[in-house]
Amino acid sequence: MKKNILVTGGAGFIGSHVVRLLVNKYPDYHIINLDKLTYAGNLSNLKDIEKKANYTFVKADICDFDAMLDIFQKYDITGVIHLAAESHVDRSIKDPFTFAQTNVMGTLSLLQAAKHYWNGEWKDKLFYHISTDEVYGSLDDEGFFVETTKYDPHSPYSASKAASDHFVRAFHDTFGMPTIVTNCSNNYGPFQFPEKLIPLFINNIRHNKPLPMYGKGENVRDWLFVEDHAKAIDIIFHKGRIAETYNIGGFNEWKNIDLIKVMIKTVDKLLGKEIGSSEKLITYVTDRAGHDLRYAIDSSKLKNELGWEPSLQFEEGIEKTVRWYLENEDWMEEVTSGDYQKYYEQMYENR
Ligand code: NAD
Ligand code: TYD
Repeated sequence: MKKNILVTGGAGFIGSHVVRLLVNKYPDYHIINLDKLTYAGNLSNLKDIEKKANYTFVKADICDFDAMLDIFQKYDITGVIHLAAESHVDRSIKDPFTFAQTNVMGTLSLLQAAKHYWNGEWKDKLFYHISTDEVYGSLDDEGFFVETTKYDPHSPYSASKAASDHFVRAFHDTFGMPTIVTNCSNNYGPFQFPEKLIPLFINNIRHNKPLPMYGKGENVRDWLFVEDHAKAIDIIFHKGRIAETYNIGGFNEWKNIDLIKVMIKTVDKLLGKEIGSSEKLITYVTDRAGHDLRYAIDSSKLKNELGWEPSLQFEEGIEKTVRWYLENEDWMEEVTSGDYQKYYEQMYENR
């Protein structure tokens, strides 16, 4: 059966990797990339596949219910992989309304459109919602998030993602819609907007700018190479069990300060600088409000049920990533032109 898959947020960081994988791997599917093209969405993330016959881009806002209905109808959508979201914690602290609007109301509008169009014909349909480990809150030094960990979001971002996860599950429980939710740890790799730690720091090292380390740099994140996340999404979309939750993570925990030191060594090496010399750029700044101490995902359910495991070791992934940003200066310049400087000043000045 031909599949018409709606990928939302496909012009963003993770979405672009998902779209690329699906378009290249499944020539018989029609991949419809729906994106509003906010500051985080960039069609140049998809230049290599934009002319493929099985790919269509549609510019739309997921909050626009009528537009969503039209898209389901026009493309006879059979599956949804929903990534569109406001995704940056620091922005959510400054502007929570936008997060509630896009992440909660936008997800609801998409769910309603799917329910309306599928009209109870659930066979071969799937609404797959991409979420984050941040909904589980914060861990102390020990333990892992598992699929049954109680939700305990602390930031407006994670609260909005938690609400959207609940709506997706409610559409399964109330209406019988086939849904899956996955909660993934921090991703890194090419095409990530330089508001997030890794691309921001690579770009700053390159320009000899301070590296703003929140608090004492002791927060821990579990980092996964973005292409491994995209592969997990592909497997789960095709083989995941309906109504299930799967955690996706790298079993790859790093304290921010340690991670930055590895990154600095890699950037210095590739730029031909004395290795470690950019450590002098590390600048401790006021901590993020409500800063979660530690995230760590136990993804053994996914490994045991569907055989997925991360393929890249972190040192290999970080070198690949640093190399990509250094070789794609044009991309970085394109995304940091416009409002980026204003954002940077507002976020980091007086910190
Ligand atoms: P991103 O910010 O890079 O991309 C988000 C995309 O959504 C952009 O292309 C943007 O234009 C689009 N978008 C935003 N609002 C929209 C709207 N109203 N209508 C249509 N499109 C809209 O985000 P990302 O890092 O690629 O994250 C993608 C998804 O994965 C998000 O749902 C996020 O919560 C989740 N996630 C991210 C990470 C991570 O480390 N980045 C980890 C786990 C889960
Ligand atoms: P980020 O990439 O924003 O991801 P998240 O908050 O979703 O985990 O941040 C990763 C970690 O890096 C987090 O602990 C906050 C920290 N951080 C800094 O220390 N400085 C920065 O400038 C940024 C953006 C993040």
